Amino acid sequence: MTPEPSKRPTRYLSGVQSSGRLHLGNYFGAIQNHIRLQDQGECFYFIANYHAMNTVQEASLLRDYTFGVAADYLALGLDPNKALLFRQSDVPEVNELAWILSTVTGMGLLERAHAYKDKVARGLAANVGLFFYPALMAADILIYHSDKVPVGQDQVQHIEMCRDMAGYFNNTFKKDVFKLPEAVLSEAPKVIGLTGGKMSKSDEASVIPIFGEPAEIKKKVMSIVTDSKGVAEPKDPDQNVIYLLYKLVAKPEEAAQVEKGFRQGGMGYGDAKKLLLAKLEEVFGGERREKRKKMDENPGLVEDVLIAGAQRARKAAAQTMEQVYEATGLPLSKIKKAMLDI
Ligand code: ADP
Ligand code: TRP
Repeated sequence: MTPEPSKRPTRYLSGVQSSGRLHLGNYFGAIQNHIRLQDQGECFYFIANYHAMNTVQEASLLRDYTFGVAADYLALGLDPNKALLFRQSDVPEVNELAWILSTVTGMGLLERAHAYKDKVARGLAANVGLFFYPALMAADILIYHSDKVPVGQDQVQHIEMCRDMAGYFNNTFKKDVFKLPEAVLSEAPKVIGLTGGKMSKSDEASVIPIFGEPAEIKKKVMSIVTDSKGVAEPKDPDQNVIYLLYKLVAKPEEAAQVEKGFRQGGMGYGDAKKLLLAKLEEVFGGERREKRKKMDENPGLVEDVLIAGAQRARKAAAQTMEQVYEATGLPLSKIKKAMLDI
């Protein structure tokens, strides 16, 4: 028998879009937390390739990015014996649940979503996929009866919307099928990008890719734009991309030294860039980079992990869909049972 949700370990769930290469913002905002949590509860992590379709509309690119996200997770320390890693599209039931949630959700809720609102405000045409995005994300979370959702700051609104949709469903069908999940933020919920805003896959100039080639990373770090203050002049570290990124990768005492050098004067931008570069190599080079290369050489290993993860995720999803059909009146026909393998 399946244990009652309250009696099982905390279930953590999160997704990362396969819309580009993973960057430091993804790592320090979310993935580092994902990997830590694998020792603390049941973890479900997936590659949001349906979500990525809003921006990646070329088959080979979507495949490559999806593989890349999985390979990066494994190289960074995700242990498939402890946490599930799978592709969103291997559990297509999320689309069905997203549809069902949309039938109990008002337009107003989705119209308030930042990603959609910002695009429209900039006068750009949004596709229906972008508008619908929070409903699919809510389904991703609710289909696994997730307790906690470790994400960066930019996703908090989506989790609030997910809670709203769970509530609308429970109220409409007068059954507490869904519990309300909670967001969990890391210590670095908003990592600054090289261009001064949020580091994001949607702006290539803003990112430092975790597993970029050393020459590429060097070029990116060395070309971070600074003001023209000389070495001896005092500088404000809190407004400084180099320092803010260094603080994430360095030990606290190392960061404190650079901070002092900036505040008092004596630390130049060129030297700080070199320190940042060396730390990035220390943290993400060496063993991790080697592991990442092994993934490229053995794509079958990555595929095996994704399939094993999806098989277990689908079992959990099928149980939820059974409850959803019961609550809504959709039949769990023979055909549906075969599809859900129940
Ligand atoms: P991106 O914004 O680069 O497309 P995703 O939307 O796929 O990345 O985000 C994956 C995870 O990484 C999410 O939990 C998101 O909140 C987190 N994240 C993305 N960018 C940052 C950032 N600059 N700082 C902190 N967390 C981030
Ligand atoms: N929207 C998330 C992002 O861009 C990715 C995502 C999709 C997600 N479904 C999710 C994150 C469910 C957490 C839970 O980062």
